[in-house]
Amino acid sequence: MSNYKRNIMITGGAGFIGSHVVRLFVNTYPDYHIINLDKLTYAGNLANLRDVEDKPNYTFVKVDICDYDAMLTLMRQHSIDGIIHLAAESHVDRSIKDPFTFARTNVMGTLSLLQAAKVYWESLPEGYDGKRFYHISTDEVYGALELTHPEGVASPISAHEVYGDSFFTEDTKYAPHSPYSASKASSDHFVRAFHDTYGMPTIVTNCSNNYGPYQFPEKLIPLFINNIRHRRPLPVYGKGENVRDWLYVEDHARAIDTIFHHGKTADTYNIGGFNEWKNIDIVKVLIKTTDRLLGNPEGSSSDLITYVTDRKGHDLRYAIDSSKLKRELGWQPSLQFEEGIERTVRWYLDNQAWMDNVTSGDYMRYYEEMYRGR
Ligand code: NAD
Ligand code: DAU
Repeated sequence: MSNYKRNIMITGGAGFIGSHVVRLFVNTYPDYHIINLDKLTYAGNLANLRDVEDKPNYTFVKVDICDYDAMLTLMRQHSIDGIIHLAAESHVDRSIKDPFTFARTNVMGTLSLLQAAKVYWESLPEGYDGKRFYHISTDEVYGALELTHPEGVASPISAHEVYGDSFFTEDTKYAPHSPYSASKASSDHFVRAFHDTYGMPTIVTNCSNNYGPYQFPEKLIPLFINNIRHRRPLPVYGKGENVRDWLYVEDHARAIDTIFHHGKTADTYNIGGFNEWKNIDIVKVLIKTTDRLLGNPEGSSSDLITYVTDRKGHDLRYAIDSSKLKRELGWQPSLQFEEGIERTVRWYLDNQAWMDNVTSGDYMRYYEEMYRGR
């Protein structure tokens, strides 16, 4: 028996978004026990959680979510009544090189968690009452949208004017293109199947691109900030015309908190920033901000921009319509993009030790392999 009001398992809590969710829950809910399960792959890092690791309501367990027996044992041991599932392989370029790892963790790992939750919760006298299985997914499951804006339109793209109603909504049909998004789509289907078949109280959210502190520097924003700092090339895929909708990671964590507590069982919510940027425009903002904060002459890093071979199957545009979440649960992004980017660049520059730590070991080998021949 636990003395806590709730016992919540967060998977992937040592990763980028997971660490922000763990921090928010540990600090906001001292009467909840937060159990962070993470395998600590290259993307998981306990240094992301130094400020909460000694809190009495926090427990970390190093474990692979694919280990079904361990999942069931941990659920029983901690009397788990809520699961927030973020553990995943998350980088599209890696999925293009090694799809098996993505199927294993994202599909089989999710299934292992679902089955353990089913067996444990169905063994309790109250069954599924008061339980919640919350699965964190991505807008990439919806495929790609057209690029219809006129040549030369500036970012942030005033999406409603330029695209009319062309957004991903909760009713958009799944059409994943990359092995990553195919594995996430498959896991979403399994989660919904566990609701429809067994009555498990599930919930799924699909979010757009996150940015902010503690993101592994294989992703566009931290990679480019670090490369500017080290005067390394900035590898822009294709023509840099692809569009992404960016959301500050703490806003995503807040949305997760709101939906975990108030979302409707078996429902889906899209989470996004209504903040679409062409990649090349993001790169220019990063150069301007990073140069200024480093004390470099304005634009002095522009010569680092290097157009490289495009990502295979590169989705042209993602854009989330998150109006349902605003209408039904009152959530909206709190931070303007300019302020979020300023905070983010500052954080990476101020936390060079974190960056040096995550880029030691195998990182440079991965980086060289990824960009060789591009
Ligand atoms: P991340 O790669 O930074 O972190 C993933 C975490 O999962 C790491 O800590 C890693 O160690 C852990 N993990 C991986 N495999 C595991 C396994 N088999 N068992 C246990 N732990 C394992 O990812 P992120 O960017 O924080 O994304 C978190 C979740 O949010 C993912 O499900 C992702 O699909 C989704 N998402 C991400 C974004 C984004 O922009 N980053 C946007 C929408 C949705
Ligand atoms: O949309 C949500 C998704 O956002 C999440 O589900 C994924 O986990 C997350 O990784 C992210 O996917 P993207 O592929 O959009 O993110 P990434 O940072 O890899 O790339 C952003 C854009 O920048 C994309 O169009 C590819 C481009 N890019 C990326 C890298 C790493 C470059 O031009 N050069 C690069 O070196």
